[in-house]
Amino acid sequence: VAFSLVCVPECDSTNTRLMAEPPPDDGRVHVLAADVQTAGRGRRGRVWQSWPGASLTFSALWRFAPGAPVPAGLSLVAGLAVARALEGLGVEGVQLKWPNDVLIHGCKLAGILVELMPGRGRTPAAVVGIGINLRLPADAAIDYPTGVTDLAACLPAPPGAGALLARVLAELQALFEIYAAAGFPALRGAWQQRNAFADLPVRILGEAESLSGRCAGVDEDGALLLETETGLRRVLSGEVSLRVA
Ligand code: BTN
Repeated sequence: VAFSLVCVPECDSTNTRLMAEPPPDDGRVHVLAADVQTAGRGRRGRVWQSWPGASLTFSALWRFAPGAPVPAGLSLVAGLAVARALEGLGVEGVQLKWPNDVLIHGCKLAGILVELMPGRGRTPAAVVGIGINLRLPADAAIDYPTGVTDLAACLPAPPGAGALLARVLAELQALFEIYAAAGFPALRGAWQQRNAFADLPVRILGEAESLSGRCAGVDEDGALLLETETGLRRVLSGEVSLRVA
């Protein structure tokens, strides 16, 4: 899988830009990185806040065959790529919180926002947006149940944004290669090894209902498996969030 990379000093949101102005459909995975986003977005309508030098923010456009099902587990693959890049730098305690947060000892270091772009005559695509905290301002107020962290707190000599981007893209490229050939099942084991909630009692907070059970990993589509009192339930990554019960 060939990649193309464009870096800009500032934009509203790298996800929004790739969707509003899609790059040519030339078989490459197009990546857009921004030093600062003025309207960065997170999951569930949240804001991804931006301060100069505080985080690495970029998005990759993944095109898939017209008529094909939406690629399953894509956001889990992106989380795995971030985890492997961090591990390569010597960061310890990297875990993945389904569907797509990267945690270090329980605190959020990175978030991923996958958005679908309908085909409308073009090749359908998914935009995979990744934000990794590099050095948050001391007074940054970020609401996350178990707290947030940054790379500067994890490593004595953290890399700069460019060097980190190169590592994450190298991992993303290697994993996209496997994903394109064999789908999420080929990466499921690697994801589960880093599952922050493996075997733990968890609660899924959905828009309408909440569900409790033991986290039994993810299935071949990247759906969360929950052992509940009434049997095994599959949870698709929609507008849900996960908590330790
Ligand atoms: C989350 O934690 O809820 C997801 C955060 C995703 C943030 C990234 S930063 C690059 C890309 N552009 C955005 O506006 N959001 C994603």
